[in-house]
Amino acid sequence: MQTRTLGKTGLEVTQLGYGTMGLRGPKTWGVRVVDENEADRFLNQVLDSGINFIDTSPDYGIAEERIGRYISSRRNEFILATKCGCCPVQHDDHLEVKHEWNAELLERNIETSLRRMRTDYIDLLQFHGGDAETLQSEGLVETMLKFHDQGKIRRIGMSNSLPNLLDLIDLEVFDTFQMPYSCLSPEHEDCMNRAAAQGAGIIIRGGIAKGGPDAEIQRENLKTVWERSKLDELLDVGMSRAELILRYTLSHPNCHTTIVGTCNEEHFAENLASANKGPLAPDVFAEITRRVNQHIAHN
Ligand SMILES: NC(=O)c1ccc[n+]([C@@H]2O[C@H](COP(=O)([O-])OP(=O)(O)OC[C@H]3O[C@@H](n4cnc5c(N)ncnc54)[C@H](OP(=O)(O)O)[C@@H]3O)[C@@H](O)[C@H]2O)c1
Repeated sequence: MQTRTLGKTGLEVTQLGYGTMGLRGPKTWGVRVVDENEADRFLNQVLDSGINFIDTSPDYGIAEERIGRYISSRRNEFILATKCGCCPVQHDDHLEVKHEWNAELLERNIETSLRRMRTDYIDLLQFHGGDAETLQSEGLVETMLKFHDQGKIRRIGMSNSLPNLLDLIDLEVFDTFQMPYSCLSPEHEDCMNRAAAQGAGIIIRGGIAKGGPDAEIQRENLKTVWERSKLDELLDVGMSRAELILRYTLSHPNCHTTIVGTCNEEHFAENLASANKGPLAPDVFAEITRRVNQHIAHN
């Protein structure tokens, strides 16, 4: 599988990574619940396929526990990224996701994540949001550096989106940035390029545009971009819409890895096959970009 260097972290990551939000379990949010057997099978299948980058968060219900339960015995096979600043509240029937920015919570998050995932180190600990001013006034980058010196974490990352990302990139303190990007939602491309130019590793979420027009859970805004840009016209014979979307993301020179979240065996196999086909032809990539930009300019 195609690998890239995750910026200044120096880590060699598979360009197709895996996001575990779908493994959050019951009484969280959304309609689908993945059971224990499926979680075990998915996580092991991810590693069997050669994928070596896994993203999770204390906010994703029991996803961290499942990583610990099912693949901690294979810890040397994957680069583990989780998040902090998370104080989710479990209600009777759903999980409320909340974030706070203070050193005590970060301490609690890291200890809980290590215990849940049955590991003694996290490769990449990412702030799960926040803004530059608060993180600085609370001294939270220093808190992260302390975790680093204690051997609990190897690298410090930021997972965020516009508008906060701009000031956060300017701080020049993060090893990686996680942000959304796909041909159907390219708004963060400038952020990607700015952060990559500083040498940061770039982790893309939403890289398959949440399944695009064929998603089980439909996102009308993404579907509209697909339809108005007439992207069906650019599909090769036998190419699915999800393949075009994923390979477009993987074609971007600054997408070091994209953490596609799927909990469907067929989709997983399809995504692997798409990733193995490599980047789109440059003229197809350019034409998709042109059409989508034209659509965005008119809206
Ligand atoms: N703020 C943050 O830090 C943040 C926020 C959101 C997400 N994330 C991370 O990013 C990961 C991915 O994010 P995301 O879920 O927003 O975006 P995504 O990976 O673009 O979308 C995942 C959705 O796409 C569907 N899908 C995947 N492959 C498909 C295929 N071949 N055909 C049709 N549908 C397909 C999946 O459904 P099926 O299961 O049916 O395949 C799932 O509903 C998460 O797991 C999480 O690790 C981080």
